[in-house]
Amino acid sequence: MDSPTFTLKDGKFKILQLTDIHIGGCIFTRKEDKAALDGIKKVVDAVCPDLIAVTGDAVYPMVFYPKPFMSGTFNNLKSSKIFGSFMERLGIPWAMVFGNHDTEIWSRYNRDDLSAYYESLPNCLFRKGECFNNDRGNYDIRVLNENGELNTVLMFLDSNSYLGKTFFSGFDVISDEQINWYKDKINSYKTGDDTPRSLAFFHIPPKEFRDAWEKCYRGDKSVTYHLGFIQEKDNYVGYPKTKHGNFFEEMVDFGSCKGMFFGHDHLNTASLTYKGIRMTYGMSMDFLAYKGIKKRHGQRGGTLITLLEDGSFDLELFPLEDLDGTSYFSTKVDKPI
Ligand SMILES: [Fe+2]
Repeated sequence: MDSPTFTLKDGKFKILQLTDIHIGGCIFTRKEDKAALDGIKKVVDAVCPDLIAVTGDAVYPMVFYPKPFMSGTFNNLKSSKIFGSFMERLGIPWAMVFGNHDTEIWSRYNRDDLSAYYESLPNCLFRKGECFNNDRGNYDIRVLNENGELNTVLMFLDSNSYLGKTFFSGFDVISDEQINWYKDKINSYKTGDDTPRSLAFFHIPPKEFRDAWEKCYRGDKSVTYHLGFIQEKDNYVGYPKTKHGNFFEEMVDFGSCKGMFFGHDHLNTASLTYKGIRMTYGMSMDFLAYKGIKKRHGQRGGTLITLLEDGSFDLELFPLEDLDGTSYFSTKVDKPI
């Protein structure tokens, strides 16, 4: 099947990154779910994107945290349907990848089940695509210039969930098979000597983001800070603690990937360039998954990526609190938890 293709309009293509929406989907989370979906609507109305890219954790079937039995439901298809039907009503093409929370070991539905649902939605470009182990949703979307030349390939990757079965085993990595798939896909679009440019969308940040942030913090000139903050406690970056998989370094060597966009750590919004790749935490939308998250607002919103005709891109943050001037749950904010 051919990859979906878009074309720049007036020299631009606007991609709105949304991440970590965390729809609970149960009777106890109706208020939080509504706040998250209303938030998306406000950001979308402000940005008017050509495409929406969701980088994982659309739903939150955690059930036990932060409040036992009040955080979500075992029925992660039901919460996915709440999210998916809302996204469809926006009438804008949208793509997504799974995060670690979309399916949990205790969830009633697995990644295959959710894939079948998302693939059935007319505006949703998600495809199960190439599957590797537990990963679902490795696929690409092409964006062309108005003259028909390839501008950028958008690569969507499932960064999987856990090394074991649950959160406590640590996070998984993008596998070697996925890296090879990425390179083969990009090479298949090659028409001359130049390697086509690409942007990668996935959920769990690479370890190298942490390395880059530490260097940036120390004033190391090899890292360029662009915008955003690291607000997780102790500068936490939830990267995989395993030596397997080497996605970032492989992408540096390969030379195609110019940007990586991820979520996972809801309070981080920083964007840094390191070794030629701009790594960006999308603004999250979560009202549910962290203790006290409802009272924090600086991290909540959307991240606009504007592709330009020369293949470069601009980035802009759209904090929800700047869009409506009011907050859903509190106006006292932004003290670290
Ligand atoms: Fe999340």
